[in-house]
Amino acid sequence: MREQWVRVLATGSSVPETVLTNFDLEKMVETNDEWITTRTGIKERRIATSQETTATFALQAAKEALCRAGVSPEEVDLIIVATVTPDMLFPSTACLLQRDLKAKNACAFDLEAGCTGFVYALAVAEKYLRGGGGRVALVVGAETLSKIVDWQDRSTCVLFGDGAGAVVLGLGEEPGILATYLGSDGNGASLLELPAGGSRFPASFETITQRLHYIKMNGNEVFKFAVRVMEEASNEVIHRAGVNIDEVDTFIPHQANIRIIQSAAKRLGITEEKIFVNVHKYGNTSSASVPIALDEAVQEGRVRKGDLVLLVGFGAGLTWGSALIRW
Ligand code: ACO
Repeated sequence: MREQWVRVLATGSSVPETVLTNFDLEKMVETNDEWITTRTGIKERRIATSQETTATFALQAAKEALCRAGVSPEEVDLIIVATVTPDMLFPSTACLLQRDLKAKNACAFDLEAGCTGFVYALAVAEKYLRGGGGRVALVVGAETLSKIVDWQDRSTCVLFGDGAGAVVLGLGEEPGILATYLGSDGNGASLLELPAGGSRFPASFETITQRLHYIKMNGNEVFKFAVRVMEEASNEVIHRAGVNIDEVDTFIPHQANIRIIQSAAKRLGITEEKIFVNVHKYGNTSSASVPIALDEAVQEGRVRKGDLVLLVGFGAGLTWGSALIRW
């Protein structure tokens, strides 16, 4: 029989050991545990050491996923690393991962779509495999946001954390990724940006003194956008797959803020027990958030064979996207 589905063969993840709690942040900026907890749901986040980079966590997550899938690095045809914090602007972090894994038969590139990066990469890899590009893909979301956070800006520094999640995708006869949906609106580009370090504002004395190498965000506008597109993206992928929202067993949204997750779930009519949340442990890990949550949900037995899993993300760009998977 002809293989026609792309399936998730296994997942993996990796987070730094160093924990930064809300109480630690109280000593760094004018904030408090109560404000952070009620506004975001975050209690702590993981922070990379100066020795650890995005590629470090990508490698650990990828090795775990490959090992669980029983797939050797030589069998991988495609590597995509979704990230907004690559080790360097070039070469890509995906190429560093390809080297460290010794995945000598893989092509490799980074994909930047803000916090939606992993969902984008999943959709691209699925189309690549279905289109005949190969049999196995490794899709990683990896970040070290602590390195681009302004630790003097209380409105952003309390939100972000570091880590990586990975999936191994393979062709199969049973249903897997049923549908994907991606969207973007560059009119919202300035709502969430890292202004300097690219061709627009190359690194200079001015960019450093003006602190332009750090995340700048209009939190209120991003919040409103997030709730709207989470609902829209979820409904669209459900529609594309021809299923009903009630059939979803586990809802795994981008972990940016518990209030965004709860508002979106309420609008969609998804009940509390179906929502997977780990934002309290890791904060917002951007491209890594959905794959870390997916891996934890699988390891905890929250996702089982045959389940319908809905992934949805939003982020800088602006971007948004969703994927519906039969596990
Ligand atoms: N501690 C204490 N007070 C704070 C802090 C803090 N850490 N940060 C801000 N405040 C203050 C503000 O100064 C403001 O004070 P004021 O009223 O005296 O001016 C007050 O708290 C309220 O601030 P708001 O910004 O209105 O707070 P809000 O309830 O909107 O919550 C938050 C802010 C948590 C940032 C929220 O807007 C949010 O989560 N937005 C979405 C952010 C997001 O998801 N970003 C990720 C996008 S994905 C990607 O690509 C990275």
